Amino acid sequence: MIGRLNHVAIAVPDLEAASAQYRTMLGAEVGPPQDEPDHGVTVVFITLPNTKIELLFPLGTASPIQGFLDKNPSGGIHHICYEVDDILAARDHLLAQGARVLGGGAPKTGAHGKPVLFLHPKDFNGCLIELEQV
Ligand code: CO
Repeated sequence: MIGRLNHVAIAVPDLEAASAQYRTMLGAEVGPPQDEPDHGVTVVFITLPNTKIELLFPLGTASPIQGFLDKNPSGGIHHICYEVDDILAARDHLLAQGARVLGGGAPKTGAHGKPVLFLHPKDFNGCLIELEQV
């Protein structure tokens, strides 16, 4: 059911420092910061040959990333995103298998303008999983 790894999202305490590190130390193609008020994040996209990295930084007072950084002050992997062909079929399959889909199960528009869903980390070895329809 799942296809390619679309991205790995890393929560960072200092977006400018993390961007500079990926650009200079790791020699990666690093984009400009983009505010996404609907998701409470500022994102920097890093393009790798086989996938993307998203650096996430809190935007606004109710950002879900702030709580993550409070628990992980030096940052950390926040979620990984797998591609699916049909997000509603994927959701129905997962629900039938007993997995929990966050946010009531209705897909939202993700950072790339495509429908996304998140799966409960406790059902997947402690890893928050995003599914994106491509
Ligand atoms: Co994501």
